[in-house]
Amino acid sequence: MAVVSRHHDVLIQRLSRHSVNYRDPLEQIPWETLDPEAPWLPEKLLSLYGLPEYEGLTADDKIRLSQVEFVSFCELGLWLEALFIQRLGSHSLQHLYHDAPSYHYQLHELREEVGHSLMFLELQHRAQLPFLTPPSQRPRLASLFARWTPEASAVFWATIFIGENVPDQMSRHILQDKSLPEAVLAITQLHRREEARHMAYARITVQRRAQRLGTIQKKLLSPLLREVMRQFLQTSFFPGPAIYAAAGLAAPQRLARLARQNPIRQALLKDCAAPSREFLASQGFSI
Ligand SMILES: [Fe+2]
Ligand SMILES: [Fe+2]
Repeated sequence: MAVVSRHHDVLIQRLSRHSVNYRDPLEQIPWETLDPEAPWLPEKLLSLYGLPEYEGLTADDKIRLSQVEFVSFCELGLWLEALFIQRLGSHSLQHLYHDAPSYHYQLHELREEVGHSLMFLELQHRAQLPFLTPPSQRPRLASLFARWTPEASAVFWATIFIGENVPDQMSRHILQDKSLPEAVLAITQLHRREEARHMAYARITVQRRAQRLGTIQKKLLSPLLREVMRQFLQTSFFPGPAIYAAAGLAAPQRLARLARQNPIRQALLKDCAAPSREFLASQGFSI
């Protein structure tokens, strides 16, 4: 246990050092390259991609849908970051007295998350597209879990890890398409770079905390984690009808239903969830 603890301290001190060269994302993104005539997501990442209804859309409809879905993906980030900022902000000072390296690092992480949220707000402002999924429409269990699970617990950090790793997998796919506007690539790159540190912190914190849990406890916690993850994946990958309506598409309710049944979308979800599932399985949680 002492070895894990020491390893933890060394790693987070290193993460803090990497966070020192902070630059404001608002200043780093080449906002003028956010082309309103171009797609903002690769086609294969669109929720309707592969369906006959998608093939039937005009080129302009497809572009508009990709822009709305990219803004909606960033809105997902805003929701997650708000939950995280609330939790860390409310209890972080107590760490100073028993785990100073974590306190130090978490302040870096808070600063970075606030920067991401400001970046997403700027995107929305420049895109002139509305945010359409208020927290009341997000899964209740995931919100409650993020709000009330003890911060010292393995499951709290497991939830954080899922909330960071799943969108990061989407970001990885986005960056494969270098033809996207530079601003979209820069937003995604910057987020990936900083989230890599956040995930490293979450990973080692889960490892450290999971060591204190017995096999039975992990077995009992697994169904809960599984349900949180299921709800989180639903809200991340299946936009509500408002998204299709904002893209100007007809029959938005029907499109939302079709997206949920879209095998290509389901395969993407599985692909993006796989690293979280593998990591949690390695820590004894079966999700
Ligand atoms: Fe973030
Ligand atoms: Fe993060």
